[in-house]
Amino acid sequence: MSTSVIILAAGQGTRMKSALPKVLHKISGLPMIHYSIKTAESISDDITVVLFHQAERIEKEISKNFENIKFKIQDHANYPGTGGAVMGIETLHDRVLVLNGDMPLVTPESLEPLLSQEGDIVMSVFDLPDPSGYGRVVVENSEVQAIVEEKDCTREQKEIKTVNAGVYIFKKEVLDRYLPKLSNENAQAEYYLTDIIEMAREDGLHIIPVWVEEKAFKGVNSRYDLAHAEEMMQKRIRERWMRSGVTMHLPSTIYIDSRAVFHGECTLENGVTIHGESIISDSYIKSHTVVEDADIKNSSCGPMARIRPGTILEDSQIGNFVEVKKSRLKGVKAGHLSYLGDARIDEGTNVGAGTITCNYDGVRKYETRIGKNVFIGSDTQLVAPVTIEDDVMIAAGTTVTKDVKKGSLAISRTPQKIVERFFYRFFGKGKPDA
Ligand code: UD1
Ligand code: MG
Repeated sequence: MSTSVIILAAGQGTRMKSALPKVLHKISGLPMIHYSIKTAESISDDITVVLFHQAERIEKEISKNFENIKFKIQDHANYPGTGGAVMGIETLHDRVLVLNGDMPLVTPESLEPLLSQEGDIVMSVFDLPDPSGYGRVVVENSEVQAIVEEKDCTREQKEIKTVNAGVYIFKKEVLDRYLPKLSNENAQAEYYLTDIIEMAREDGLHIIPVWVEEKAFKGVNSRYDLAHAEEMMQKRIRERWMRSGVTMHLPSTIYIDSRAVFHGECTLENGVTIHGESIISDSYIKSHTVVEDADIKNSSCGPMARIRPGTILEDSQIGNFVEVKKSRLKGVKAGHLSYLGDARIDEGTNVGAGTITCNYDGVRKYETRIGKNVFIGSDTQLVAPVTIEDDVMIAAGTTVTKDVKKGSLAISRTPQKIVERFFYRFFGKGKPDA
C-alpha cells in the first residue's frame, strides 16, 4: 500500500537551549532531520516536512541533499503543537506515516512492523524504566485508551512505563476527521496529535500499538538525548563496518561519520576519528589519528596523524604528528612532525621530520610540487609556489624558495662556526683543567 510521509520539524526545540534549530543538530556528521528524510525516501514518493521556527534555514539545509521534498509552514501562531503541525497537509496517498523530526535513529527496517499492520491508527510504543519526557500510553484491557503528555499526567499516570515512541500511521480519513476536533486545553496550550488516539478510541476505531525498540525510536529533546542518540548511532555504524571487514581495536573509542566508507580490509586502532565523506581502502589507521573528508588507499597513518579534507593518499606511510591537507601523496613516506598542505608528492619520495610546506602568504594559498625519489632532509621549509623535480636531494635545514631541477641538491644553510671553550667563558665555571 502506498504511504505518504509527514515529518514534523516545526518545533522550537526549547529544551536544546540552542540558537541552532533542534533538527539541524548533528549526529555522526549529519543533521538529525537528514536521517528521517532518508528513511522516509525509502518508503515513500510523497514526503512533506513541516517547518516554522527558522524554516528558511532548515529548508536550505534539506535542499542541499534532497530533491522532491514538499515543505509546509505550520500556522504556529494559531495552531501550535504536533497536531497543529499536521493540519492542512494534502497527502497523495490514503495512508499517512507521521515521523517526528527529532528521531534520527528510525530506519526503514524498524518501521517494517508498523507498515505491515492494518488499522485505523498504528502507533509505536516502548517500555522504559525511566519514561520521563515521553507521552505515557494508557492501556486498559490490552487496548490503548489514550496518550497523556508528561506535563498533563496525574501522579499515577507518571508511573506508567509504556510510552509513545512518536511514530504513527493514520488512515488519511482519520486525520481528516479528527484534526479539526483537536483542542488546546492542556498544560502547554498546544494542539496535540496524540489526542486523536482517545477520540478515535471512543468512536471504536481500530488502534494497533506496536512495541518497538528504543535503539531505533529514541526521541532527542535535549543535548543529553543528543549525545545518547549519537552513541547509539555510532554503535550501529561501527557494527556495520566491522561486519563488512573492518577490524577495530576498542571500538567504543572510535568515532566514524555516517558518510564514511571503507573498502577491502582496514584496521582502525583505538581512539581513531573518521569525519566526513572519507573513503578508506585497505589501510591501517593507528591510534588517535583524525581523518577528515580524505581518500586513503593502501596506506598507513598515525599514530596521532591528522589527514585533512581534500587529501588523497595512496601507497603511503604517514607517521606521528604529520598533518596533511588538500594534498595528493602517492608512494610517499612522511614519518614524523610535518605539515604538508596543497602539495603533490610522487612515488619514492621521503619527507624528513619537521618538513613544512609554507603554503600561505597571509593572503593566498600556493602549491608545492615534489617529484619522484626526492629525499627531503629534516627541518626543510618549502616556500610555495615551488616545484621540486625528480631525483632531488634537499639538505636538512634548507629553506627552498626556488624551483629545483632534476637530479640536483638544494642546500641553504648558514655555515657552521665553532668557537672553542665558549661555554666556559660564558658561564665562567666548570672549567676543566687544561
Ligand atoms: C512527542 C509526543 C509524545 C512522544 C514523543 C516521542 C506529542 C504531543 N507528544 O513529544 O507523546 O512520547 O514525541 O518522541 O506529539 N513539532 C512541530 N510543531 C509544533 C511542535 C512540535 O512540528 O508545533 C515537531 C518538533 O519539531 C519535533 C516533533 O514535532 O520534531 C515532536 O515535538 P517535541 O516537542 O519534541 O514533542 P515531544 O515533547 O518529544
Ligand atoms: Mg521530541
